[in-house]
Amino acid sequence: MWKICEEKKALFQKCLIVTKNFDATEKNKDLKKESIDFVLMHPPYVDIIKYSEWKIKKDLSNIHDLDKFCDEIEKVAKESFRILKPWKYCAVLMWDTRREKMYQSLAFKVMERFMKVWFALKEDIIKVQHNCKATWFWVKKSKDFNFLLIMHEHLFIFKKLK
Ligand SMILES: C[S@@+](CC[C@H](N)C(=O)[O-])C[C@H]1O[C@@H](n2cnc3c(N)ncnc32)[C@H](O)[C@@H]1O
Repeated sequence: MWKICEEKKALFQKCLIVTKNFDATEKNKDLKKESIDFVLMHPPYVDIIKYSEWKIKKDLSNIHDLDKFCDEIEKVAKESFRILKPWKYCAVLMWDTRREKMYQSLAFKVMERFMKVWFALKEDIIKVQHNCKATWFWVKKSKDFNFLLIMHEHLFIFKKLK
């Protein structure tokens, strides 16, 4: 989730991008308070795709319960707020889901947690998302059980106003 990559000089004049493997819900001792220019994250969407199949204890894709998932995301939001410089941005890509055939606004729940830790919402960009590997499976289900496919994701752009 925390991916700041190798120097991409064509895109950014001075951008230190580091790839690290660590639990984003915990405080990162290597990163000082207000030292980072931009945070970009693409967390799991609860347990829709299980990334480590329980091999990594703190893998957020182990969590099925939406509120428990959001409690963990709030920790990530808090840590992002701590490391980000004032007036800089944090981008979060998030999808919605269904439970018992009912629509669950997971993205808005996550958005609320970022705002709870003092981020301001600058933009909500809708990313059209369909024709995925598993779409054929959901097309059939949506016809059988009479629901619409979820065909978009939210790219939230939060700003640290301070
Ligand atoms: C939706 S995928 C994002 C994939 C990313 N866009 C990429 O191209 O690598 C979610 C990622 O979050 C990682 N992840 C899950 N729990 C995490 C945690 N507690 N800390 C850091 N990363 C986590 C998963 O391993 C997975 O790679």
